[in-house]
Amino acid sequence: MDETFPNGFRWGAATAAHQIEGGNVNNDWWAWEHTPGSPCVEPSGDACDSWNRWSDDVALVAGMGLDNYRFSIEWSRIEPAEGEWSHASIAHYRQLCEALLAAGIDPVVTFHHFTTPNWVAADGGWAEPRTAERFGAFCRRAAEELAPVLRRACTINEPNMVAMGGYLTRLFPPGRPDVETRRRVNAILCDGHRRAVEAIRAAAPGVPVGLTLAMSDYQAVDGGEEKRDRIRRGAEDVFLDATGGDDFLGVQTYSREVIGPDGARGPQPGVPTVAMGYEYWPRSLEATLRRAWAYTGGKVPLLVTENGIGTDDDAQRIAYVHEALRGVLACLADGLDVGGYTYWSLLDNFEWAEGYRPRFGLVSCDRTTFARTPKPSAVWLASVVKANRLQPLPG
Ligand code: GCO
Repeated sequence: MDETFPNGFRWGAATAAHQIEGGNVNNDWWAWEHTPGSPCVEPSGDACDSWNRWSDDVALVAGMGLDNYRFSIEWSRIEPAEGEWSHASIAHYRQLCEALLAAGIDPVVTFHHFTTPNWVAADGGWAEPRTAERFGAFCRRAAEELAPVLRRACTINEPNMVAMGGYLTRLFPPGRPDVETRRRVNAILCDGHRRAVEAIRAAAPGVPVGLTLAMSDYQAVDGGEEKRDRIRRGAEDVFLDATGGDDFLGVQTYSREVIGPDGARGPQPGVPTVAMGYEYWPRSLEATLRRAWAYTGGKVPLLVTENGIGTDDDAQRIAYVHEALRGVLACLADGLDVGGYTYWSLLDNFEWAEGYRPRFGLVSCDRTTFARTPKPSAVWLASVVKANRLQPLPG
């Protein structure tokens, strides 16, 4: 197999506001972290202090030779109360985008990455249809402000996880499991996505807009096909159905799920697991890219907007990315339109309910000084980017 990536293939790293900025006190996640009985193991606190140290992050991305940086803008900072706009927060994100562009890096901006302002959450959050409208209005305003410096827009990050975490697994706020509500939330999120696409296109014509979706390599065993299809329908397909006409689909994947007639079976004997508790399964990237491509009939160009591994063993990270990238090359060889690869995450950061234990970063971040130190995986990925070609495993 040719191990070279096509010219123009985009290389990036990703983060999200609440996971790195610190002090995002005005959203539902901060409240959730401080709710007695919530599954959060620790609060986000100062995170990586990226609100203040964002120029360090830009330098790290530039140092690896990446040409894309995906990050999110925090709705609760930009619109702390309905219709009230923070010019200082908008200026902050504009400055970040300008610094990226000056370093030759395209800002890839996510408009919603799991966190919802308290004023929206208090009014029902994503279970309330008005939230889709309000989100559309936020996107319109933010995109107008950022239009000259925006290069790609992701509307809602992993809407399927927002619905699942909040209304099934209880890992996300509001942590109220209910089948009917989850179904409704799925539909409202799809509506929010469509409104966001329209708003961003109107405000920033020519900027590609799409959805980023958490996808899993769902594998049926022992006659579990029907069950798998049912699970996958609510978890993925309803959102894939909402991507028609989008400029791209962001595929985000980490592992697989083995499903029998009784449901998900969890990690299988003999397969190692990672810090998140699921299986080490780098082949999920190839599988999910192929599924996204087949499901959408090859009509929506794909981009890997997240892929990575939470581990303390950085050599395992390199091996994971190596195998995942092999999968991308196989997809490219078969004619799939995969425009780029974005590693999750630039930094070790706040992994939601799991706190700071799982380390997804190419770069570590000291929990008290916030000093950033690139790991060998950052050096290895930089060598791949430089050659635009898969590089051998070190050692
Ligand atoms: C997600 C989010 C990230 C996570 C990452 C690792 O995909 O769930 O976009 O915020 O940190 O996936 O679990």
